[in-house]
Amino acid sequence: MRVLVTGGAGFIGSNFIRHLLATEPACHIVNLDKLTYAGNLENLADIERDPRYRFIKGSICDALLVNELLRDGFDALINFAAESHVDRSIQDARTFAETNVLGTQTILEACRRHQVPRMMQVSTDEVYGSLGPSGHFVEDSPLRPNSPYAASKAAADLLILAYFRTYGSPVIITRSSNNYGPYQFPEKVIPLFITNALAGESLPLYGDGLYVRDWLHVQDHCEALALVLKDGVAGEVYNIGGNCERANIDVARLILSTLGKPDTLIRHVKDRLGHDRRYALGTAKIEQALGWKPRISFETGLQETVRWYEGHAPWWTRIKEGQYREYYRETYGDLSQVSRQPSVM
Ligand code: NAD
Ligand code: DAU
Repeated sequence: MRVLVTGGAGFIGSNFIRHLLATEPACHIVNLDKLTYAGNLENLADIERDPRYRFIKGSICDALLVNELLRDGFDALINFAAESHVDRSIQDARTFAETNVLGTQTILEACRRHQVPRMMQVSTDEVYGSLGPSGHFVEDSPLRPNSPYAASKAAADLLILAYFRTYGSPVIITRSSNNYGPYQFPEKVIPLFITNALAGESLPLYGDGLYVRDWLHVQDHCEALALVLKDGVAGEVYNIGGNCERANIDVARLILSTLGKPDTLIRHVKDRLGHDRRYALGTAKIEQALGWKPRISFETGLQETVRWYEGHAPWWTRIKEGQYREYYRETYGDLSQVSRQPSVM
């Protein structure tokens, strides 16, 4: 199976590539990634010499490049590429519209032209909007995104479903809840809190800290994505949730107790604008259709994640101190030389 992975140098994409190479001996993967601030080739250092893997630097918005790649013939494209951080979308939504909406449309059109048999979009529970204290979202709940990030992901989902209805494009959407695990960029709450606590810095908790997220270990997410890639049905949407709701303040306390640090490191700060109160996903569809269930409990997964960050201080300090562009130049050469020609590494 030949798979074009887009956005594979980020958190979930890099975990997915590693998972697919480990579980599908016959797969060949090309990873197209623009290497924004969030894309990091160090995330894939252990597999970069695998003969079944190839990296190409470039954007999903570059129609010429995407078409040129797809001419080679792929069995599937799975799109992780996105601007993914809600707070950044509140500061400036432009790149969110460009990559998340226009980039997705560029991929859709190229897949249509080259008749790629399967296109999968890695979407999010945030497209459904915010929940009150009870209930959960199912696949046909209305889309009511609140942040510019969520709106851009919802727009992409609608385009994808429109391509299915209009052209019969063989597309599938997965919508996942909040992921955590190794290689997550330390702007997201769990790695931010872990790395701050390790450095003896405070944990900035937004508002009253009672906002609820449904946590899913990235390995469980990757297993679900691999199943959908193999056996998912075109035109369908699959929720992938952890069935694991936690208030942010409890997550902060668990991180601190795992590290033997005091709760006094928690600092209540100004709230996020338009902050969604609670997310929760119903996952009966993927459980019944594909036999998937999350396997990793939050307590075990969080403890392992804390240990991973403890053991990978150079990885996150390079990011937090803004040094990794320099590291890149030394390790991989000048990556600013991006041309329309795919630069194969
Ligand atoms: P991330 O920010 O860690 O990684 C995004 C990757 O996309 C980076 O490698 C970046 O360089 C790349 N990229 C950005 N713009 C690009 C472009 N124009 N062309 C090519 N590559 C580009 O994100 P993540 O947390 O790994 O999320 C991956 C996907 O999963 C996103 O689509 C996100 O919306 C979705 N998602 C994430 C979560 C979560 O909890 N992290 C949950 C549900 C869904
Ligand atoms: O639900 C899936 C989504 O989860 C994905 O689509 C997004 O790509 C991903 O970034 C994530 O979005 P959230 O906004 O839920 O994640 P974040 O880690 O930014 O925040 C989680 C919660 O923690 C949220 O309620 C805000 C709060 N928070 C966040 C940060 C960064 C804090 O209290 N303090 C912080 O410093």
